[in-house]
Amino acid sequence: MTPAAPWTPVPVPAAADPRSVPSHWFNLVPSLPGAVPPPREPEGAEQDDWGSRIALQQRIRLDAVRAQDAATEPFLEIPKRVREELASIGRPTPLLRARALERYLDTPARIYLKREDVLPTGSFKLNSAIAQAHYAAEQGVGTLVTETGAGQWGHAVAWAARRFGLKAVIYWAGVSARQKPGRNALIEMLGAEVYPSPSEQTPVGKALLRDGRHLLGSLGTAIGEAISHAALHPETRYISGSNLAHVLIHQTVIGQETKAQLAALGEQPDALIACVGGGSNLGGFMGPFLAEKAERGDGLLLLGAESASAPRLTRGTLRYDHADPEGVTPLSKSYTLGRDYELPETHVGGLRQHSGSPLIGVLRGEGLLDATAYEEADAFETGRLVLSTEGMLIAPESCHALRAAVDRAVLARETGRSEVIVACVSGNGLLDLDGYLAHR
Ligand SMILES: Cc1ncc(COP(=O)(O)O)c(C=O)c1O
Repeated sequence: MTPAAPWTPVPVPAAADPRSVPSHWFNLVPSLPGAVPPPREPEGAEQDDWGSRIALQQRIRLDAVRAQDAATEPFLEIPKRVREELASIGRPTPLLRARALERYLDTPARIYLKREDVLPTGSFKLNSAIAQAHYAAEQGVGTLVTETGAGQWGHAVAWAARRFGLKAVIYWAGVSARQKPGRNALIEMLGAEVYPSPSEQTPVGKALLRDGRHLLGSLGTAIGEAISHAALHPETRYISGSNLAHVLIHQTVIGQETKAQLAALGEQPDALIACVGGGSNLGGFMGPFLAEKAERGDGLLLLGAESASAPRLTRGTLRYDHADPEGVTPLSKSYTLGRDYELPETHVGGLRQHSGSPLIGVLRGEGLLDATAYEEADAFETGRLVLSTEGMLIAPESCHALRAAVDRAVLARETGRSEVIVACVSGNGLLDLDGYLAHR
């Protein structure tokens, strides 16, 4: 499907040297096929305890990321210090041809894996955590507060905060925090404070506990708590690890590197696949390929793989909703299951949220982004296949992307089509072994 309005995304050139860290982030917003709907106030906001949700966001966020959310230029220069840090953590990350997996599947497809799992804290989340910690330090902010679903973002923030001499306070979806004592220990070893959400720390957590709602916790409950913490502690700033434009922008190093790496190999992708929670690894991976999508239409598949237990893109609706159950966030327009949706317990904390990014909403709403959902057991089965073929244990979230890549490669075997499939491995699964063991 092609969008009704003329759509001319800004082309992103492939860097000549695939070993260099990109000098600019790509701003997806002006290259999307439609305008990103602005946030709105809920009805009666001025009369309730939280007041204007939009004003609250302005108050608790870092100046630089607010500016990036509003930016209209297509490329934003990456600050020198951030580039150096990205190089020091091992960027560009490798692009691996998964030959053993191809042989096992007996497919004519060529499968490439973008290895964000090799980053020191175990996921792509570090790309934005470093940028936001840098801006906090520059602004003279001493403490960052945030939420985390799988714990990967919390871990990345804990490390980045330490690197830049800041304190970090992290609200972690309770069910996921309890599943992962190892990651919890690492976050604490890095000096961050961690609270499983809902908690007694904040008015939002207390209200959920009192009413017996969302007791398992979710990314949404943790978002509400982190925001209410920031509202009550004016010396802190609230940062987020997904959904918002600036986070997707920071993640475009992934797609730009992939583009340069493919070009150096003389390859052109036929399918780009990523798992999708809030949408930041997907947006960062696929954003730099929007001009190719506009040119090739169905010749380039953009595919998001989500969890069947939180099927926003495949079963949700595109409408205004809060990102947290208590409604302390502004209303934003994205695919949502509704903020009252009680998410079931899963081992896929990073995809376990009721709503997502408005930018992904535009891509999907305009028919450019395909989506598929997998049951957890099927995703873990693919994780075991990747372990036995390629030797890497990938994060449960990434297993969803790999499942979609495997399905596509099997289809290629059936049709005899030799295509190039590129999947983003968003994270490492060594701290998710319990999830793997639950699905043996
Ligand atoms: C390893 C991993 N992959 C993917 C995601 C999903 O995030 P997003 O949709 O923002 O890329 C998460 C989120 O926590 C994660 O930890």
